[in-house]
This record gives sequence, C-alpha cells and structure tokens, in this order.
Amino acid sequence: MKARLVVLASGSGSNLQAILDACAEERLEADVVFVVVNRRSARAAQRAQEAGVPVAYRPLGPFRDEFPGDIRRARETYDAALAREIGEVQPDLVVQAGWMHLFSAAFLDRFPGMVVNLHPAMPGAFPGAHAIDDAWAAHQRDGLDHTGVMVHLVPDEGVDNGPVLAAQRVDIAHDDSRRSLEAKVHAVEHELLVRAIGDYLQR
Ligand code: GAR
Repeated sequence: MKARLVVLASGSGSNLQAILDACAEERLEADVVFVVVNRRSARAAQRAQEAGVPVAYRPLGPFRDEFPGDIRRARETYDAALAREIGEVQPDLVVQAGWMHLFSAAFLDRFPGMVVNLHPAMPGAFPGAHAIDDAWAAHQRDGLDHTGVMVHLVPDEGVDNGPVLAAQRVDIAHDDSRRSLEAKVHAVEHELLVRAIGDYLQR
C-alpha cells in the first residue's frame, strides 16, 4: 500500500515538487495527500494545486492575535489545531520541506516518530533559517570548504536537530558563488529527501 504523506512548506516548494515528482514517477511508493503552507506567498501552494493535492493556508498570525503577549500559548494552540487537522487525513509521515515554524509537543506528541525535517547543513552545523548564508559567510571568513544537507526526525523542539536519517556533504569550490552554492545544495536536497523518505518508510 502506498504511504500517505503530508508535506509542510513555507517557501518556493522545490522540495515539495521533488516529492510530488517522485510519487508521480513511482520512485516513491507514496502519495502526497495534503499540503500545508503557513505563508500566503508560498509558491508551494501553487505546486500542490497543480498536482491536484489539497492544500491549506494555515498562518500562526490569528493565534498570536488571540493570545497577545503569550507566544507560547499561541504556538501551542496553533500546533494542536494543526495536529487535529493533519490527523484527520491519517498520514504515515509528516514532512517539513522548508517549513519555517518550530513545533511544540502539542503537535509532535500527536505524531511520534512520524515527523521529518529537511535542513541545508550537516548535523550540528548552522541550525536555523539561514544555513546556506551562514555556510557561505564561514567560507568567506574562514575558508570553510563544505556544507551539506540532512534529513532528520523531529522528536522535540530542538532547532534542526534530531536523529539523522540521511546526510550528504556538499563541497564549496573556490569558484563557487553564493548562488552556485545554493543551487548545489538544492540539487542534493531534492535527491536526498526523496531517498530518505523512501528508506524510512521501508524500515
Ligand atoms: C530548503 O533549502 C530547506 O532545506 C530549508 O528551506 C529551503 C526550502 O526550499 N529549510 C530550512 O532551512 C529549515 N531550517 P524549497 O521551498 O524550495 O523546498
């Protein structure tokens, strides 16, 4: 039976696209059954629509307004509501593919061992939303000669941290630019994420 994937994205969704393509081409024995975006401008939403996958826009903003000055409560209420909605589609795996929101236990406890995150750095290096910029800065400052990509489980609120499912080094060549490095990282991501999902589903 095909696995049911829910994909969460905040940006351009090129990694969502890699998953959709792998499903369509049967390189991944899975279907994307639901996509959630948390930014109105996320091109990921269009990609889901084009693939005929249900997509929902679920921003944190209204929850911040409901609990002014209590971001913890806003986040937990948002996370619980999103967990309920995603639970209804009965996913086998929830994939954070460029998802810029840190889940609390109110979400994660609902899906133990079922949430994976993609991050454009090697384990332990450059957590956060600007990992490629951070690696590029370290290259320029200290001559850092590589960065990488990893896919890991999300057991708790650790930022881009958790049991590693797959990781791959990306070399930074002397003639790389910030732009060419980003292109290399994305190319590795698109393959590694699909492979890691496939391997994890077959475990
Ligand atoms: C990817 O590079 C992903 O690894 C990164 O966001 C980008 C999304 O690209 N995620 C993080 O930085 C998580 N901390 P995409 O929207 O084209 O898939």
